[in-house]
Amino acid sequence: MAFDLDMIKAVYADMAEKIEAARKVVNKPLTLSEKILYSHLHSDQKLEAFKRGKSYVDFAPDRVAMQDATAQMALLQFMQAGKKKVAVPSTVHCDHLIMAKKGAVEDLRNSLSASGEVFNFLESVSNKYGIGFWKPGAGIIHQVVLENYAFPGGMMIGTDSHTVNAGGLGMVAIGVGGADAVDVMAGMPWELKFPKLIGVKLTGKLSGWTAPKDVILKVAGILTVKGGTGAIVEYFGEGAKSMSCTGKGTICNMGAEIGATTSTFGYDESMDRYLRATARAEVADLANEIKEHLTGDDEVYANPEKYFDQVIEINLSELEPHINGPFTPDRATPVSQMRKEAEANGWPMHVEWGLIGSCTNSSYEDLTRAVSIAKQAVDKKLKPKSDFGINPGSEQIRFTVERDGILDVFDKLGARVFTNACGPCIGQWDRAGADKKEKNTIIHSFNRNFSKRADGNPNTHAFVTSPEMVAAVAISGDLGFNPLTDTLTNEDGEQVKLDPPSGFELPEKGFDVEDNGYQEPAKDGSSVEVKVAPDSKRLQLLTPFEPWDGKNITGMKLLIKAKGKCTTDHISMAGPWLRFRGHLDNIADNTLTGAVNYFNDATDKVKNQLTGEYGPVPSTQRDYKAKGIPTIVVGDHNYGEGSSREHAAMQPRHLGVKVILVKSFARIHETNLKKQGMLGLTFANESDYDKIQEDDTFDFLDLDKFAEDKPLTMRINHADGSSEEIKLNHTYNEAQIGWYRAGSALNLIAAKEKN
Ligand code: F3S
Repeated sequence: MAFDLDMIKAVYADMAEKIEAARKVVNKPLTLSEKILYSHLHSDQKLEAFKRGKSYVDFAPDRVAMQDATAQMALLQFMQAGKKKVAVPSTVHCDHLIMAKKGAVEDLRNSLSASGEVFNFLESVSNKYGIGFWKPGAGIIHQVVLENYAFPGGMMIGTDSHTVNAGGLGMVAIGVGGADAVDVMAGMPWELKFPKLIGVKLTGKLSGWTAPKDVILKVAGILTVKGGTGAIVEYFGEGAKSMSCTGKGTICNMGAEIGATTSTFGYDESMDRYLRATARAEVADLANEIKEHLTGDDEVYANPEKYFDQVIEINLSELEPHINGPFTPDRATPVSQMRKEAEANGWPMHVEWGLIGSCTNSSYEDLTRAVSIAKQAVDKKLKPKSDFGINPGSEQIRFTVERDGILDVFDKLGARVFTNACGPCIGQWDRAGADKKEKNTIIHSFNRNFSKRADGNPNTHAFVTSPEMVAAVAISGDLGFNPLTDTLTNEDGEQVKLDPPSGFELPEKGFDVEDNGYQEPAKDGSSVEVKVAPDSKRLQLLTPFEPWDGKNITGMKLLIKAKGKCTTDHISMAGPWLRFRGHLDNIADNTLTGAVNYFNDATDKVKNQLTGEYGPVPSTQRDYKAKGIPTIVVGDHNYGEGSSREHAAMQPRHLGVKVILVKSFARIHETNLKKQGMLGLTFANESDYDKIQEDDTFDFLDLDKFAEDKPLTMRINHADGSSEEIKLNHTYNEAQIGWYRAGSALNLIAAKEKN
């Protein structure tokens, strides 16, 4: 049995008592989010009425999940903490490092040989420290977690931003950096700023072409990629209850695209059904015993405006299918408006690929609804005008849909079934012709569509939609196709219309699998040896970062002033670089290569102030480092949005950047900077961003008095001899300032372990 029933029993045993105590202190009815948060306070944390968006609170999550790309650095760090075993149930999932090219069997074989060293490392570390290990091909982390580990009312963290997917089963599940995972695995409190709460009331019922995906596509359009920052989005209402558990998972999954801390739904019958269908009837029985604590109080949902910081209402009966993109997941277009919108913007109308699956949309319901469209294409003699690719979310899903004849239908459309892994969703797509960088359009059921994400081509216009809409649009090959109203010409020259999709929430014959790919760790791993070859290009044991000397940093040069969007993909690109996730020095060669230089609109071309020449960001920074010159990176709004990868913080740190100064941060990235002993600061006055010139140098005037709630002052020295002072804000509390002093949070943990 993969899941830990005793742990769940222990969580439920005193949940009612903890919630009651919190209700007394807070003195009002509670949302589900608050119930979960207050019942997961760390034992060292004093219970009080926390201020949303302000109080830093120590929590004790129940579980940790890690994917192969982020697990490498997390476990390399955990090894440094000097512990024998992980303190909470934890799992590693090998899903990111698997290339999609020809099809599952061959791709998996090639990936095993290309990344075998990393998989072996992860397997041995997991075995040693009591961590469950999901082999390459077993599935995508979030689908596997939903199928095996997520449980109503639980709290987990995961080293991947789409950890939030587990909200579909009523959890508070949060994507974090590897350093946070290290804290929790080491039994340390895990700190989070108490989130704000956004309530989304769902009325009506989905029907026809509209799918759960459209709820979040619509919400993304309303809230934008920044709108959920620092907040938990809690869905409720009759509409929420009418949706499947996996549909709820899809909605929570893409909460990451609005920057939300996480999203969640109250426990209901759909979750009960899903738990039983996935062989966890005991968990459903336990949840049913305390179900009033696994959802928000009635009064909260009756008067949401009183209890949430923001309330959005969506009537599912009126919701139209959406297609979001290109290049950003919050550019929401109802399908009926797509042709007009695409033509007005010059987006390529021909759709070259339709990709179905990923952690976002590869449930049984998703695949059966998509295949109901694919089947019509076969029956109505429609030849698809686009190529099809499918990424099943887990071996259990793949095995079951193969058994039920679903893969056969996709096969008839010439679809390529890739490994049960992320593949194209994380740039692990060896797409023929992508290197020509031609302008083209693809449509997929994934969650992210930032430039270059799927195939590395900046001119690929990627659109996000539901799996059934992917199927319809890919069959038509036309981005403007609206299956609700339009017809298609079939092989006999007839006009045919696609009927709305139909599917099954859960397989009638139950889920089935022969080998789910799970490996239990050794009971006593003390004799297991973890090997890292000293000359490895993929793995490198870490050396601790230098502590801060307590002085003002002066004479900093500007490395880059990034313009516009600067996501973690821009700071530490995925795709081919995924292979170096366990080797800090090697991966540092991609640092900020995707960021746009404000002064010349180019990527990876910055001025070296020492030579006056323009060159790549990493080598320019290495030059400054070699000469002992501190540097600063300046950025725009929501800097570091996207994924939870702490590499985006560790790499600049490793290369000697001292400060990241931006208009605003994405939450996870800001925390990651703090954990790595970096200074992440914001302009007190946003327009000061405009004052930064290419040849500036910078001096702190009062960093030596670094303290909580106290802004810092920096002098900008311009090349013409003039200078000006600006105020900088920060959100470091005393403990985080301690990390900065020690050089990193891990340095502090290791020091405590020794004492
Ligand atoms: Fe993988 Fe894409 Fe999900 S990278 S974890 S399938 S968001």
